[in-house]
Amino acid sequence: MTPAPETNIPTILVALGGTGDLMRRKVIPAFFYLYKQGALPDKFRLVGFSRRDMTDEQFREYVKEVIVAHAGELIFPEMIDSFLKLFKFQKGEFSDKKSYRDLKKTIDECDKEWGVCSNKLFYLAVAPEFYETIFKNLSDSKLSEPCDEDGGWTRLIIEKPFGVDLKTAKSIERLLTKLFLPEQIYRIDHYLAKEMLQNILTFRFSNNLFEKHWGRDSIERIYIKSLEEIGVEKRGAFYDPVGAFRDVGQNHFLAMMALVTMEHPISFDAKAIQRKRADVLKKLKIIKKNEIPKATFRAQHEGYRTIAGVAKNSATETYFKIKAEVATKRWKGVPIILEGGKRLGAPEKEVIITFKHPKQCLCPKDGPHHKNEIIIRFEPREEILIEFWSKKPGFTMDTAPRMLHYILREPKAHIPYIEEYAKLLLDCIRGDQMLFVSTSEIQAMWRFTDPILDAWKKGLVPLHSYKPDTKEILQTSNYIQ
Ligand code: BG6
Repeated sequence: MTPAPETNIPTILVALGGTGDLMRRKVIPAFFYLYKQGALPDKFRLVGFSRRDMTDEQFREYVKEVIVAHAGELIFPEMIDSFLKLFKFQKGEFSDKKSYRDLKKTIDECDKEWGVCSNKLFYLAVAPEFYETIFKNLSDSKLSEPCDEDGGWTRLIIEKPFGVDLKTAKSIERLLTKLFLPEQIYRIDHYLAKEMLQNILTFRFSNNLFEKHWGRDSIERIYIKSLEEIGVEKRGAFYDPVGAFRDVGQNHFLAMMALVTMEHPISFDAKAIQRKRADVLKKLKIIKKNEIPKATFRAQHEGYRTIAGVAKNSATETYFKIKAEVATKRWKGVPIILEGGKRLGAPEKEVIITFKHPKQCLCPKDGPHHKNEIIIRFEPREEILIEFWSKKPGFTMDTAPRMLHYILREPKAHIPYIEEYAKLLLDCIRGDQMLFVSTSEIQAMWRFTDPILDAWKKGLVPLHSYKPDTKEILQTSNYIQ
């Protein structure tokens, strides 16, 4: 495969925090994935910037270890060697001006070697407390400026958490917009890049079958769940001040909700899609303080407090269930259930759309309730299921539920995270923000979550406990429907 013309543009990616966890787990393997597919630009460099004392050779050795650990024996040595040539290292401190001047020199040398003014992507694989220093130094060193009047864009990639509440999100935004225009800022939510979730737009808007019924007249309930098998693992210190709802509810869940409930964007234009997602997020009904105990539920799994980095008396939730509503003409009154958490046994990640019982139904008297369901599932397998009712074969008009089943692919054909990151990184080079989150979306998300988190902090909702690796808590929270 050769790179598509719109992505085959000379590009240098500077990874600030180049030897950190995010780089190791996602970014480096994602670039290798793109490399194997021949999708990277012909002129491409990744410059790792971190305070470690490393030479280019040592950095390449580090990158090699990362990809071998990921891909095992399946890779050809010559392929690794040519891939490693794309990497350079620049030692530097985020707060040291000279480090940025050195970085600029390294980048300029590369441009000189290529004889072009290349595009620059700055990937912030760092904790948000470093943002301010980094932005200021990128600006002072003029690294954030294009090297040419006609070309050489500069873009910034940042990762969640986009703040811890609306106030902090706004202050990050103020910092960002001092230096970068909205079209330069790429905020990653890897859920938006999941194949099955991208498919929601196609399913809804490229077919004529369902969209006419997509709303309160026909739909009874939307149920969004992401029950994780894994726990907090080694991320106790990160997770404990955050909790499940902030970690995945405020972002991934609400992003899914926006895809299911947004209005038609008319085109695939990124701005149009971001705007429609934001519009619906802004219409999320803010749950009133006195309704929060009825509409929300939280729990922590047994043993959580013994995890390294977790406070001994932690009141952080590892599971949540919330009943939300979007106050638009289309959705008013339709419950939207958000349910997620860690150590919940076998993974179940899906969106279930339940249709109402037909008003006039040719159903057996006293027979089962004739609802239809659409399940858009992304784990354990990426698939869409449509449940409908059919006549049972035989001499009666008895009915039975049946399934139409579309399997996107078997689980082993999907490389979690890597594929999503590869898509997102390529979109950044291409300049397509469709799968990135806009600041209006983020602020609307926080506006909805802040009052819930505040009420939980004040202890207005009890913190339940559950046995890890079971689904028992789902029974306890079952009253939220
Ligand atoms: C991340 C959270 O954003 O999403 C993790 O920080 C969570 O805690 C993960 O496990 C879930 O993503 P996925 O793609 O595995 O469902």
